[in-house]
Amino acid sequence: MSSIPNDLAALWMPFTASRQFKSAPRLLAGAKDMHYITAGGRKVLDGVAGLWCVNAGHARPKIVEAIRAQAAELDYAPGFQMGHPKAFELASRLVDLLPDGFDQVFFTNSGSESVETALKIAIAWHKANGEPGRYRLIGREKGYHGVNYGGISVGGIGANRRDFGPLLSGVDHLRHTHNVPGNAFSRGLPEHGAELADDLERIVQLHDPSTIAAVIVEPMAGSAGVLLPPKGYLARLREICDRYGILLIFDEVITGFGRLGAPFAASRFGVTPDIITMAKGLTNGAVPMGAVGVRGEIHDAFMKGPEHMIELFHGYTYSGHPLAAAAGLATLETYAEEGLLTRARELEKTWEDAIHALKGLPHVIDIRNFGLAGAIELEPIAGAPARRAFSAFLKAYEKGLLIRTTGDIIALSPPLIISQEQIAQLFDILSGVLKELD
Ligand SMILES: Cc1ncc(COP(=O)(O)O)c(C=O)c1O
Repeated sequence: MSSIPNDLAALWMPFTASRQFKSAPRLLAGAKDMHYITAGGRKVLDGVAGLWCVNAGHARPKIVEAIRAQAAELDYAPGFQMGHPKAFELASRLVDLLPDGFDQVFFTNSGSESVETALKIAIAWHKANGEPGRYRLIGREKGYHGVNYGGISVGGIGANRRDFGPLLSGVDHLRHTHNVPGNAFSRGLPEHGAELADDLERIVQLHDPSTIAAVIVEPMAGSAGVLLPPKGYLARLREICDRYGILLIFDEVITGFGRLGAPFAASRFGVTPDIITMAKGLTNGAVPMGAVGVRGEIHDAFMKGPEHMIELFHGYTYSGHPLAAAAGLATLETYAEEGLLTRARELEKTWEDAIHALKGLPHVIDIRNFGLAGAIELEPIAGAPARRAFSAFLKAYEKGLLIRTTGDIIALSPPLIISQEQIAQLFDILSGVLKELD
């Protein structure tokens, strides 16, 4: 186990209150199955699968061994004009998991890159398809699509956008569907809000449908605090897209690989988009990797022109990296052997009852759940937004539980291997934390 570093100054940390962190560091030094081990040797129950990615639990032997063996066998292979077997194999395995009609996979290194790739493919496809005037991208308020310029442009989290100058032009947003007064303490999908999909109809009329390339949404918005689609909402969005020839992109970076009890949210919700972005659970978080799944006809539209010419001028040095591909294959095997891609559905009722049992605790204004994801929304402290939830995060960590907070929302998404006893333990710790909050 590594020792505690004595100088934390040089690392500029991502999405971190870094002065607070460096004054009282929280260092993780090891992990196994459902737990982290802190640098001080304390066991911490992982209530968020790392960062929504370690779906099979930590340090799973098959994945560890696959990475080790791959590093020795083929460390790197260029992906431009060259290939290596495991990248092709992983693409085929992913096609098996994706909804019918998806027969192409493009590899990236993160969720953010998957989003950029999807947006570029959408615009380029319309051009290849004889409609070069379709360039507009429609996102949604509160959407999180990573941190690159395309992603923050279509994204809808103010703090992630406001400091970075003029973003992509030709972007508009649907309203978000978060509605605590109307849908508070919903179990599963909320009843109210399907009509918010009709925002797309208004946007279409405003801009002229022939200018709109794609709509991108998270089927369940994770980062903004587990915002579930109202019943019927996604189907309505699909209908409007179809009516106007607009591509529908589901950002499944969080919902992919079993979080909602099916391989993808598209399958769980029975709504099939045209493009699916993924990352995180693809390699169980063990090696960075993202991917974009694409319907066959979209890919095929690019396959014209002279055969010696590149068809899509896009890609990354590490697209389909051998270590990531090996980790991805071992991850998918682990998911299949242990039934993890559907396990959340089996645990859903236990999870739902356990999280809703927190109703009535101090400051709790909403609780929501689906699959093995859930959120507890707290009343913000007047004049100090996010402070209450952050203090819950710190207290939970002290008590041996890792949670995630966004604003005043506590988000939960444990590894899909969690046991019934560990679910009880998680909520026992959390209820102790909530009772102590100011
Ligand atoms: C829906 C969604 N899209 C994209 C991303 C960005 O992924 P990454 O942090 O791997 O770039 C995330 C990350 O949480 C996400 O939740």
